[in-house]
Amino acid sequence: MERLNAEAGKLHIWLRTQANAPAQRPWFRKTGLEASGRIARGRVGAAQLKPIAHHWRWKEIAPYLDRIAEIARGADVSPIEFAERQQFLLTNPGLGGRLQVTSTMRCAVSIYNPGDVAPVHIHTPNASRTILSDKGGYTTIEGERCEAARGDLILTPNGTWHDHGNDGSEPVVWIDVLDFPLMEFLDCVWLDEAFPEETQGNSRAQPVTQASGYSYKLYGQGGLVPRFVTHRRGFGYDTTPMFHYRGADVRQALDGLRREQGDPYEAIALRFVNPATGTSLFPTLDYGAMLLRPGETTRFKRETASTLYVAIEGQGVTEIAGERLDWRANDIFVVPNFTWRRHINKDKTDAILYTVSDAPLIEKIGQYRAQGRLGDDSVVELAH
Ligand SMILES: [Fe+2]
Repeated sequence: MERLNAEAGKLHIWLRTQANAPAQRPWFRKTGLEASGRIARGRVGAAQLKPIAHHWRWKEIAPYLDRIAEIARGADVSPIEFAERQQFLLTNPGLGGRLQVTSTMRCAVSIYNPGDVAPVHIHTPNASRTILSDKGGYTTIEGERCEAARGDLILTPNGTWHDHGNDGSEPVVWIDVLDFPLMEFLDCVWLDEAFPEETQGNSRAQPVTQASGYSYKLYGQGGLVPRFVTHRRGFGYDTTPMFHYRGADVRQALDGLRREQGDPYEAIALRFVNPATGTSLFPTLDYGAMLLRPGETTRFKRETASTLYVAIEGQGVTEIAGERLDWRANDIFVVPNFTWRRHINKDKTDAILYTVSDAPLIEKIGQYRAQGRLGDDSVVELAH
């Protein structure tokens, strides 16, 4: 059969043989901590890549921001002319050099020098910015100018016109997360820079029609939404009309819940939601913030979804499929699907992690499952 296949292949057919195994091995019955989804051998799995757990340490990657910013400062043409952004992208070592951290997500770290502007544009991938700098930098989305501060989450949903820049006096740094690889796989990525109205100056920024805080004014009162505005922004569907979540508000909300029991697997966890629907910010990605109190250890959990973590405050340990990651503020790490993880804060101060997960997508295609480990190492289904 295999020999015949060499001949039959010229006709673009494949004679079914034993090499027909699905790429993933069954993960849910192998419950050992080291167990995770593994790529099987075989014709079907031959070209499949699998993201692995990985940790990008801030102290190792941050120097490259300064180096690319330095090159841009010394350039005699605008940095936008030779590189669209001053940023580096994180590449998951399991994905063969592709510009992605999981099968669905891209993550970049960007630096904007004073005066830098990214011209107004629109695209189909959903994107977010998690701000690392204390302050400075802005994103304007559909006419709303959002002034950034540390811990803020700023969303640029599918089909919204947006531009970024830094009109402060210090460089600003943020983390971009996009569902770009998923959209690319589905062949529905496109980007347009032809803003239909007049832009401002050389920077090609869109006119600001709403001041900073407009989103908050409309949607910032939990449980109340205005009836006199449409909740759709841009040409996308099912995306959040609230573009700016402030880090200070997130911190305060987490703190206000610190005496609650919380979730045994996710500690004091909050979910960022679309205020108009109560669902995830994007149809594809779910954003969250998690407070690990001093001395807190969560139970092991694993899911069919993958999660990207950004350490916003404090330090801690995350154990992933038997591997131990010691993280501190600004570190980024990824927990791929099927792998056991738990978080530990041994410190005397709070630790806060922000999360981005592709669970909404996995749920929509009917594939979401999650398991937890109890104290006696027995495994329970959390969702199936
Ligand atoms: Fe963009």
